Formats: sequence, C-alpha cells, structure tokens
Amino acid sequence: MKRLQSLILLLAAVGISGCDPQSRGFSLPPGDTQRGEQVFLNMQCLGCHTMEGYERPENTEDLSIALGGKVKSIKTYGELVTSVIHPSHKLAKGYDMSKIQNEEGQSVMPVYNDVMTVSELVDLVTFLESRYELEVYEPTDYSTRH
Ligand code: HEC
Repeated sequence: MKRLQSLILLLAAVGISGCDPQSRGFSLPPGDTQRGEQVFLNMQCLGCHTMEGYERPENTEDLSIALGGKVKSIKTYGELVTSVIHPSHKLAKGYDMSKIQNEEGQSVMPVYNDVMTVSELVDLVTFLESRYELEVYEPTDYSTRH
C-alpha cells in the first residue's frame, strides 16, 4: 500500500512538472561528474567562486561566491544550467550587489556560451549538482520552554 501511495505521488509530481510549458520537452543527457570537475577547473570558475575541498588560484577576483556545500533549499538542475548559460537571469542572493553586477545590472560572471561545448556544460552541471547537500531542517524544540 505504501508503495502504491508513493507511486501515485511520483506520478502526480511528474504530471505537474510535465505541465510546465517552460520545461516541457527539455532534457539534457546524463553527465559525467569527473569530466565536469575538469571543466570546472579548466574554466577557472574558482577565480570568483569558492568550493569546499578546492584551493583557489593565486590571482583571484575580489569575489568569493560559494558554490556547493550545505544549503537550505537545493538548487535544481535547471537552475544550475541557467546560472551558467544565462548568469544575469537571476542574480545570486546575499551578496554585495555592487560587486556582482555591472552598471547595466548584468552579472559580472562571464558568459561561456561561445567557448563551452554542450558536453562540457552537461558534465559541469552534473558536477555542480553533486556538490550541493540539503541542510536538514531542525525545528526548535519548544516543549521545554515555558
Ligand atoms: C569573473 C567572476 C566569475 C567567474 C570566472 C565565474 N563566475 Fe559564477 N558567478 C559570478 C558572480 C558574481 C555570481 C553571482 C551573480 C549571479 O548570480 O550571476 C555568480 C554566480 C554563479 C552561480 C549561481 C550561484 C548561486 O548561488 O546562485 C553559479 C552556479 C556559477 N556562478 C557557476 C560558475 C561556474 C561553473 C563558473 C566556471 C565555468 C563560474 N561560475 C565562473 C562570478 C563568476
């Protein structure tokens, strides 16, 4: 019975997402995390970004936008693809706006669309996705408070 319930929930979720005209028919092939890591290093994303477990190069920009790690709401694959191929679509929250955008309100992150192959993009995003971890919400225990 439990199984059936989760199957119904799953089908409902697929049904709902399938109704989103923005993403209908959009599906990228599976990527390779290791190759994605190479793309991440070769494209020098660490020049402006930090990621746990990775040393930053010497001459970094005056920017340290964190990628990966524990987050309260996980970034979806679609959001990560968008962040890479269309950085100005939605600027990352919680940073000094004067540093992350130019005078025209565009992200200072370079657009790699003319230098990155689609395969590199797919691998890169698969790698990025693997670096995010959902922080488990721990509710405050009010029962001991008076
Ligand atoms: C010159 C600096 C710079 C470089 C190089 C750079 N970025 Fe960014 N990136 C930014 C800035 C600034 C932001 C925040 C503004 C925005 O959301 O576009 C950002 C945002 C992001 C975000 C969204 C983060 C969030 O929490 O919403 C992702 C994902 C990302 N970058 C990935 C990459 C990857 C992958 C590379 C390498 C291919 C890269 N960036 C290279 C400056 C850079």
